[in-house]
Amino acid sequence: MDHDKVMEFLGRVTADMGATGSAGLAVIGNRLGLYRALAQGPATPEQFAERTGCHPRYLTEWLRNQAAGGYVGYDAATGEFFLTEEQAFCLADPNGPNVSAAFLAGLGYLRAEPQITEAFRTGAGVAWHEHHEDVFIGCDAFYRPGYVAELVPNWIPALDGVDAKLTAGGRVADLGCGLGSSAVLIAQAYPRTTVVGVDPHAESIELARKKAAEAGVGDRVGFEVATAQTFTGTDYDLVTMFDALHDMGDPLGAARRVRDALAPEGRGCWSSRTPPTTWRTTSTRSAGCTTRAPRSCACRTGSPNPAATRWARRPVRPRSVSWSLRPASAASAAPRRQRSTWSTRSGRELLRRRSGLRPAAGG
Ligand SMILES: C[S@@+](CC[C@H](N)C(=O)[O-])C[C@H]1O[C@@H](n2cnc3c(N)ncnc32)[C@H](O)[C@@H]1O
Repeated sequence: MDHDKVMEFLGRVTADMGATGSAGLAVIGNRLGLYRALAQGPATPEQFAERTGCHPRYLTEWLRNQAAGGYVGYDAATGEFFLTEEQAFCLADPNGPNVSAAFLAGLGYLRAEPQITEAFRTGAGVAWHEHHEDVFIGCDAFYRPGYVAELVPNWIPALDGVDAKLTAGGRVADLGCGLGSSAVLIAQAYPRTTVVGVDPHAESIELARKKAAEAGVGDRVGFEVATAQTFTGTDYDLVTMFDALHDMGDPLGAARRVRDALAPEGRGCWSSRTPPTTWRTTSTRSAGCTTRAPRSCACRTGSPNPAATRWARRPVRPRSVSWSLRPASAASAAPRRQRSTWSTRSGRELLRRRSGLRPAAGG
């Protein structure tokens, strides 16, 4: 046995163990609003305790852990902890990458570990509704910024005639809507349009109803507790599925129902993190758009890498929605097709470095 290789391997394991513990501290930062509080300005642990109302002893450990992990800065001369502009953008801005919400969802998934372990034995599934509510809340908080950045500015305008139709007044169904962020964004952007959010998870729909009401669009965003295969209604101008298709047990059934539900000139569009293995049609794979006419829409998809798919979708006019997806390693081969719509240069630059993707010129 090679002693050096053992030590190298144990080093990796130790780093992973540290990261696992730190994930819990990121969740605590998310729940208690610590990142947002630190974004207000540098603070010693005592000052931070005053600012947050939390106990200084715990905050000291939290701040040290976050500084050691590079999530927070530390000035040894003043004893103050702080967030750089980039850290604040990623951790404290609800419209930034909101990465602490990803930890909330990630640890939330692990709360179902006993059921998942049992599923390994039985082969049975673990349904979405069996997860802890942190999964639903974390997913919504983590995915929403991507919808804010892309849905109305890019994805909808990339679909033939849809922007004009929704501006004049149309009907939209958002399937697998979860907590309803995408449905609300569409309703806010198109005041003459009505939206129906569909999801089989009743608790998510309840939260979605509240969000729509709080956003002031409760009169134009309705919700239905149903699956994408069974939802009611026809003649929709747009049917969407965001980050949900891969969670549906029967994606092909969902796609069929979408096509039946579309108006003659209607469009369907979806995004999905991983290519559903059961779904193969002539014109589409895991991400793209559809119309009632088969083969009328060319869609391209590439990487199943979630980091790449999350931030690098770029719709292309006129007849297709094309997600120029590439794993980070392939980005340098074709740097010009990716674009991000983050509102700050520093945010875009940071995403470029993290994902290996390059924004298009001027993007
Ligand atoms: C990852 S969440 C995405 C939620 C939301 N679209 C978002 O982006 O935040 C996946 C959603 O798909 C829903 N879902 C699972 N199976 C479904 C089905 N057969 N039909 C419709 N929605 C389904 C789940 O209840 C869950 O809300």
